[in-house]
Amino acid sequence: MKKDKLLIIEDDAELRTQMKWGLGKDYQIYQAEGRFSALEILKNEHPLVVTLDLGLPPKTDSTEEGFQTLVDILGHDAMAKVIVITGQHEKENALAAIGRGAYDFLSKPVHLEDLRLIIARAFHVARLEREHRELQKQAAGDVFEKMLGTSPQMLKVFEVIQKVANTDAPVLIQGESGTGKELAARAIHSRSARCKGPFVAIDCGAIPETLLESELFGHEKGAFTGAHIQRLGRIEASQKGTLFLDEIGELSPHLQAKLLRFLQEHQIERVGGRESIQVDARILAATNRDLDQALKDGRFREDLYYRLGVLVISIPPLRERNGDILLMAKAFLQRFSSENQKRLETFTAQAVQAIKRHTWPGNIRELENRIKRAVIMADGTRVKPEDMELNVLGDGFKGQSLKEAREALERDMVNQALDRNNSHLTRTASELGISRPGLYDLMDRLGIKR
Ligand SMILES: Nc1ncnc2c1ncn2[C@@H]1O[C@H](COP(=O)(O)OP(=O)(O)OP(=O)(O)O)[C@@H](O)[C@H]1O
Ligand SMILES: [Mg+2]
Repeated sequence: MKKDKLLIIEDDAELRTQMKWGLGKDYQIYQAEGRFSALEILKNEHPLVVTLDLGLPPKTDSTEEGFQTLVDILGHDAMAKVIVITGQHEKENALAAIGRGAYDFLSKPVHLEDLRLIIARAFHVARLEREHRELQKQAAGDVFEKMLGTSPQMLKVFEVIQKVANTDAPVLIQGESGTGKELAARAIHSRSARCKGPFVAIDCGAIPETLLESELFGHEKGAFTGAHIQRLGRIEASQKGTLFLDEIGELSPHLQAKLLRFLQEHQIERVGGRESIQVDARILAATNRDLDQALKDGRFREDLYYRLGVLVISIPPLRERNGDILLMAKAFLQRFSSENQKRLETFTAQAVQAIKRHTWPGNIRELENRIKRAVIMADGTRVKPEDMELNVLGDGFKGQSLKEAREALERDMVNQALDRNNSHLTRTASELGISRPGLYDLMDRLGIKR
């Protein structure tokens, strides 16, 4: 088992060594002599518990640097449990440290047994706190195994994932490009009894057929020119775990037949081999094109289709997930701006409109990429439509008559003006440059409730 990480901040080398010696059996110890090296370790290793000597250099007789270190640690990770170690008769400093967010204190000379006890309890509390936060996040319904979503469509998908995870049957995951098929496959794996085993993904559309066979099934030495050594395939690599076959519709007839045999008998033969090898792997497959059409055209075997599609999950395109688009856009904005040390906080009202109007042919991958670009391009604190290279009008007007487009625009403008004016009708009318009765008529015609 992996040991928990403990950071010891102490300028006295002798004391540091003693502590490491006394605690190293139970914890993975990191040591720092001062504030900067401590913060470096904190950022890279994320220890849950820290012991902090308050009298740090440059002025070891004052607690100034020690307190600053405490503030910096908690500023970086508010949930870190900091145990402050003070000189004798420094109760006041100890209490001041608690007041600033330290978890507990201990006075020198440090008795190892006391320290051990306090540290063990600190780890316990730290873990509980983090678990609690995870649960809260999940209860908020925003995220399920890294998948964001609160729309009824996605809640349904999460429910189905949860159900199928408990079985061992193959699952066929359908959805347009970039809708999160692989993420769904990973969610099924991590919620299944196989979660401790490997998750192996292979994109059948990205590998030429000649290579794909040995990639999937492996080969024996000398099986073909260039096969200098024996090689295990991805199917064997997913022993006791899950194999995710992406773009299953791209499989050639030959490989479809081989895969079918594996699904029926749970056995494979390596290319150029004679021996049958037993493999216990669960199969998940994904397709972004209409497999039905491939079936009709005879490009995909029906018997394989029925084997793979015992359970089917359809992931809806982004444009059909009401509310999720903005939820995700905001989450991506937060993630990328902190990754890029930018201070982008929100989207302008126009940017929100543009996001809502766009039809997102590339789905979530496209949303992610546009926001990544926006974070790099944008100045100031708010993202504008141009930063995402989205047209203010969006492409939402494509294929509409002029009348429909005009009404859509009018509806947006009236709704926005109502929002800005807290539904105060006189002010809204005046902002839009129309009379109050004119606004009433317009709202009735557009079906906006008063
Ligand atoms: N519900 C979601 N919440 C947050 N991020 C998501 C969600 N769904 C997908 N993503 C992100 O969008 C990107 C595309 O997802 P993924 O690769 O799972 O889609 P896909 O359907 O397999 O795409 P493709 O058809 O191109 O293979 C990934 O970066 C993924 O992390
Ligand atoms: Mg994919």
